[in-house]
Amino acid sequence: MQPVIRLEHIHKTYGTGDTEVHALNDVNLTVEKGEYCAIMGPSGSGKSTAMNVIGCLDRPTSGSYYLDGVDVAGLSDPELAHTRNRKLGFVFQQFHLLPQLSAMENVMLPMVYAGIPTQERRERAAEALTRVGLANRLNNRPNQLSGGQQQRVAIARAIVNRPVLLLADEPTGALDSQTTQEVLNIFSELNASGITVVMVTHEPEVARQTRRIVWFRDGAIVHDHLRPEDMAQMTVTA
Ligand SMILES: Nc1ncnc2c1ncn2[C@@H]1O[C@H](COP(=O)(O)OP(=O)(O)OP(=O)(O)O)[C@@H](O)[C@H]1O
Ligand SMILES: [Mg+2]
Repeated sequence: MQPVIRLEHIHKTYGTGDTEVHALNDVNLTVEKGEYCAIMGPSGSGKSTAMNVIGCLDRPTSGSYYLDGVDVAGLSDPELAHTRNRKLGFVFQQFHLLPQLSAMENVMLPMVYAGIPTQERRERAAEALTRVGLANRLNNRPNQLSGGQQQRVAIARAIVNRPVLLLADEPTGALDSQTTQEVLNIFSELNASGITVVMVTHEPEVARQTRRIVWFRDGAIVHDHLRPEDMAQMTVTA
């Protein structure tokens, strides 16, 4: 089976000359289908840059990236946008919902780009919102929802096209601890249903609920470990 993510010798450089920044410096990372992985590391260590490359929002300066077996460098910009829409779901710290649209309409949006007929869009949006516990908030606009509810709408939007990979950059950064736990429970359920999840977080108690922690420092991966329980389990089943 192909890994969902394979990064090989990825470099990302911003600027030139005196202002040159090596945001990523020879990053190698493989994430298999079904993994639940946290990315941690100090501010400026390259976490978001790596997520932008993984999410096809930005191209690396050099190195290879295979997403679900496809060499991303070989894709044109429209093909990349199409891949993003079909294979990836994104959740950000600031929910990035459209304020004038209802929860339902926000979640339907990615399916508009995917060309899915209206009736199916409605059904699938309602289903995704039900999955995140918002069946009774379909017609509310973002400003009529709490932060945790808005983030759940964003998660519903991220999963509605049935992505192979869910990418989250500090998804709980703007939430209180109870709401954080609600969001993490949803991620765990999605992961248990087979979606690969990669999440950047600064919070150890958030990272602890994933199954693998990848540490960045100065644009490179300095540690990469499975959670001890999972390692123990692997030994037992090996
Ligand atoms: N568009 C850009 N132009 C120039 N430099 C950039 C750009 N984006 C990021 N950088 C630089 O690249 C480095 C890595 O930034 P990145 O945003 O990936 O860090 P991060 O690990 O996500 O940090 P944080 O935890 O603060 O979000 C930093 O030195 C940053 O200043
Ligand atoms: Mg960041």
